Amino acid sequence: MHLIDVNTFQDKESIYKQLLPQLNALVEGETDTIANISNIIAVIHHTFSHHWTGIYFVKQNELVLGPFQGPVACTRIAYGNGVCGTSWQKVQAIIVPDVHQFEGHIACSASTNSELVVPIIKNNQVLAIIDIDSVDFKAFNEVDKKYVEEVADLISKFL
Ligand code: SME
Repeated sequence: MHLIDVNTFQDKESIYKQLLPQLNALVEGETDTIANISNIIAVIHHTFSHHWTGIYFVKQNELVLGPFQGPVACTRIAYGNGVCGTSWQKVQAIIVPDVHQFEGHIACSASTNSELVVPIIKNNQVLAIIDIDSVDFKAFNEVDKKYVEEVADLISKFL
């Protein structure tokens, strides 16, 4: 097994630039959706020491919890609800610097203070969303959005 090797003392962009090819290599030759997503989520979570990192799949008219790392989370989120449901509805990534200021934010964990949600889009349809939570305020910026969108593109290939 190829081990992920990233020097986490570098700036965020350098970390993502090293991480992306390694994530591609990690899933190469494996087509199982849950296996690949589980490993991708684990790598992102532990590389950045996030509070919670996971995926919700669109199933009928709801988001349903998929592979994740971190504390227990809500299993279902309705279309348009919370940051995740809003990202699905708007078909766009949402950076939330302070979750307490986001109307309708769903507090799965009381420790979360900021959040990034990125939709996974295939054939113009949102199939899932990636949700990343931090205990720090303003933990996520355009750099995170750009590279997590690349991760979303990677995941869309085996969805
Ligand atoms: N905070 C999210 C809910 C999912 S948990 O954070 C894992 C939201 O508002 O949609």
